Amino acid sequence: MSAQTPYQILGAEGIRQLADTFYDVMDELPQAETIRAMHSANMDSIKDKLYEYLTGWLGGPPLYSSKYGTVCLTDPHKPYPIGPDERDQWVLCMDEALNRIDASDELKNMLKDPIYRIADTVRNRDTSEPINCPANQIQITNL
Ligand code: HEM
Repeated sequence: MSAQTPYQILGAEGIRQLADTFYDVMDELPQAETIRAMHSANMDSIKDKLYEYLTGWLGGPPLYSSKYGTVCLTDPHKPYPIGPDERDQWVLCMDEALNRIDASDELKNMLKDPIYRIADTVRNRDTSEPINCPANQIQITNL
């Protein structure tokens, strides 16, 4: 049998579930609270956009680019400070979403590196803001 794309493995319905579950996980996990706070209270429309984006990225029809004319993620993320911690929170939510939809080990292995790489591409700074750092004080990030 020839190799299947993630889109063929998951199907449109599986990708829809993945996108919905991803933001449900983000809503729930205390470890993801920094990135949850960046998003709107209601995440219905972002669930749709992630579904459309992932469909094309995972080998299906290019739903996002045919609607918005680009697959570039840099511009929409510009307003948000995304450093290594925020990237890791995003990856954590995606890993947990894949577990919750019962993705196979084969699919998880297939996606591990590409997910990290796309999240790291969205990162737009080298360090994350230290938590509880008062204003007007030297910032020490690796305590
Ligand atoms: C690396 C950490 C990331 C953070 C912290 C982050 C955060 C955000 C935030 C705050 C928004 C705006 C949400 C809103 O309007 O309520 C957004 C939009 C979006 N994000 Fe991310 N994101 C990350 C990575 C990614 C990755 C890796 C993907 C795709 C695989 C992605 C896909 C999207 C899409 C499709 C949108 C909608 C863009 C549009 O308005 O057309 N994000 N993201």
